[in-house]
Amino acid sequence: MGENSVVKWVFLIVITNYVVFTIGFSSDFPILTKNTYIIQMDKSAMPESFSSHLDWYSSKVKSILVEPETEGDDDQDRIIYSYQNAFHGVAARLSEEEAERLEEEDGVVAVFPDTKYELHTTRSPLFLGLEPEGSTSVWSENLADHDVIVGVLDTGIWPESESFNDTGMSPVPAHWKGACETGRAFQKHHCNRKIVGARIFYHGYEAASGKINEQTEYKSPRDQDGHGTHTAATVAGSPVRGANLLGYAYGTARGMAVGARIAAYKVCWSGGCFSSDILSAVDRAVADGVNVLSISLGGGVSSYYRDSLSIAAFGAMEMGVFVSCSAGNGGPDPLSLTNVSPWITTVGASTMDRDFPATIKLGTGRIVSGVSLYKGRRSLLEKTEYALVYMGTNSSNPEPSSLCLEGTLDPHVVSGKIVICDRGISPRVQKGQVVKDAGGVGMILTNTASNGEELVADCHLLPAVAVGEIEGKLIKHYVLTNPKATATLAFLGTRLGIKPSPVVAAFSSRGPNFLTLEILKPDVVAPGVNILASWTGEIGPSSLPTDSRRVKFNILSGTSMSCPHVSGIAALLKARHPEWSPAAIKSALMTTAYVHDNTHKPLRDASASTSSSPFDHGAGHINPVKALDPGLVYDIEAQDYFEFLCTQNLTPMQLRIFGKYSNRTCKHSLASPGDLNYPAISVVFPEKTSVTTMTLHRTVTNVGPSVSNYHAVVSQFKGCAVTVEPTALNFTGKHQKLSYKITFKTNSRQTIPEFGGLIWKDAVHKVRSPIVVTWLLPL
Ligand SMILES: *[C@@H]1O[C@H](CO)[C@@H](O)[C@H](O)[C@H]1NC(C)=O
Ligand SMILES: *[C@@H]1O[C@H](CO)[C@@H](O)[C@H](O)[C@H]1NC(C)=O
Ligand SMILES: *[C@@H]1O[C@H](CO)[C@@H](O)[C@H](O)[C@H]1NC(C)=O
Ligand SMILES: *[C@@H]1O[C@H](CO)[C@@H](O)[C@H](O)[C@H]1NC(C)=O
Repeated sequence: MGENSVVKWVFLIVITNYVVFTIGFSSDFPILTKNTYIIQMDKSAMPESFSSHLDWYSSKVKSILVEPETEGDDDQDRIIYSYQNAFHGVAARLSEEEAERLEEEDGVVAVFPDTKYELHTTRSPLFLGLEPEGSTSVWSENLADHDVIVGVLDTGIWPESESFNDTGMSPVPAHWKGACETGRAFQKHHCNRKIVGARIFYHGYEAASGKINEQTEYKSPRDQDGHGTHTAATVAGSPVRGANLLGYAYGTARGMAVGARIAAYKVCWSGGCFSSDILSAVDRAVADGVNVLSISLGGGVSSYYRDSLSIAAFGAMEMGVFVSCSAGNGGPDPLSLTNVSPWITTVGASTMDRDFPATIKLGTGRIVSGVSLYKGRRSLLEKTEYALVYMGTNSSNPEPSSLCLEGTLDPHVVSGKIVICDRGISPRVQKGQVVKDAGGVGMILTNTASNGEELVADCHLLPAVAVGEIEGKLIKHYVLTNPKATATLAFLGTRLGIKPSPVVAAFSSRGPNFLTLEILKPDVVAPGVNILASWTGEIGPSSLPTDSRRVKFNILSGTSMSCPHVSGIAALLKARHPEWSPAAIKSALMTTAYVHDNTHKPLRDASASTSSSPFDHGAGHINPVKALDPGLVYDIEAQDYFEFLCTQNLTPMQLRIFGKYSNRTCKHSLASPGDLNYPAISVVFPEKTSVTTMTLHRTVTNVGPSVSNYHAVVSQFKGCAVTVEPTALNFTGKHQKLSYKITFKTNSRQTIPEFGGLIWKDAVHKVRSPIVVTWLLPL
């Protein structure tokens, strides 16, 4: 996979197709299909006759079984997990009828089917990169006396990577209760002071997909795929000098929080990642004592209470764990976000100021620029003119034949030529393989409308240059009108200082938040295009089975790459401010984010010729140094998030999924979901045109100097007048809280949302909240 269209298709499958586990063929039994179900239990309702919660849970499950257990099939087989920290209950294999019966039982809070989740890399894993560039002053901070542990839920870890070298690190913190699980090619000594824990979660996967083939896949924390090694190294990798991919992106590779520890929770296998495994890993990680969870995964889930990642994250948040998740790679389509719960930090992706230029010199002498990670016999390509071929017929309309799908290229036509392939449908690196197999000498990969001018470079198996939509059309037009079209390719290495940057990536999933318009999502954007980080030794940089190259570092793009940047920065904030809640850390990241690029213009959107909006970039691009000292934070306690859920029309049973663990009830302290003390402000005028005034409430906590005087600066809107009251907040103490209200009085309803911001300013701090005003169309 690799292209957004493919990812969306998979998401669709994920939504409609719960995993089916068939156990037999006999037609004598009407119900033979078992699914994995996650069963949430009311821990406090256990009758005294049971000695342990697990005994009670399994007796519950046993009591509703329709099909008697067959000989030798003990009932432990039905239960594949028990959960007892962030979440209480079990995962079990049940028929639909059994699941329905269980739902009726006393003590059962909810029963929901296991769901498949996807990794958020813009596929096929391989692109170009940039090593993380942030603030050296943040990185150079000595964090040795702080012991922050980041749990990374992913494909495992490649422990031999230099990024996980623990030389000079202090002993593993005493409060750490995790474990180093061993298995094939993963022994105790593979954990160290950097990789402090490693565990695997596979019962849900095996129930759905069959036993893991231990000959072809490591049933251990060892990372075969590369994704988990890349994300873990981005969070907290030790510095490695001279890191590069085939000479590209040369420099020192380092994680965001070089002093933090990594605990790898392997939840993704060759066939995907399942919610029962994810839930179990979050539960375990919280009990193990992680401070931050980095989860570059998501699935298409359409409600808070059916999304087990959302439920697990709620439990983690209650325990003080910061949870950062990728926003998804479904952009640039609107409403394409995943992981939108307000207690999660939802991270979109943007570019950095580095790229890998390459040029295409057409037979006409015209020079077109693109990007490439090609390393090889450059001189030949640079000196030789090759014939160009494009299998499509219309330069602005991709066709099946122009996408270079497997089996579509005739060697008689393309052999010895440079082939133009349109992006889309199949993974980009696979198109390169198809061209190579058909005898092509090179490839020009052309963006179509959905990618615009965003260039992600891949480690192709043959010389290849990626170009934007505009240049692509120009080349295709040249070929379609010149039977003797030719080109030479030139590769120029690594270039820094690219302007404008950052730019919101075309693939980064977009708002608005389809579950709750009042909660602006994504929260922030962070580097997610062309990121250099450690790689597995198991597979080549293109991830293609035919790729025999082995590299220590690879360049990837996706919101999977942006999420660990935020997780790592959150670890730094936690180290510096151990008393901050997950919400305070998120607030610091959001209110200090910037919304202008390095040309001082508003952040741009790679998929459009316009600037990006808060639906694309949330509060903006993270600014780690500023986040260390935000001045004020919008704090939110677990009960406040629960009160938010109380405004979401959930049934009492659905609410108990969240409140159960801590025995929560609705106190109805929030007048509307927009009143959640979120660092972003999204006001929604209802369909009813008689409602012309909306007021939202916020409370800020002073985390700066005791005596601090702030005043409000708010943007103007076409469709409404905005007032903030009071307009000044004068603090006299540390951790003092002061409240304000912001009132929107509509004077002309707009058909599209309007964007702006509110800034609380003192002499040094600017505490900025993005504002979105939406008018629902009158009925
Ligand atoms: C870890 O880094 C130290 C210091 O740079 C080096 O001496 C040592 O060989 C490295 N360990 C491994 C296993 O590469
Ligand atoms: C090429 O495709 C575009 C966009 O679909 C269409 O408007 C145009 O008419 C097509 N041109 C030809 C020559 O078919
Ligand atoms: C939950 O609420 C019930 C009833 O109000 C009470 O008996 C019980 O002790 C509470 N449990 C916790 C963990 O607070
Ligand atoms: C807050 O401080 C500012 C600046 O020192 C001052 O002008 C203003 O009157 C103060 N406001 C209140 C309500 O005390």
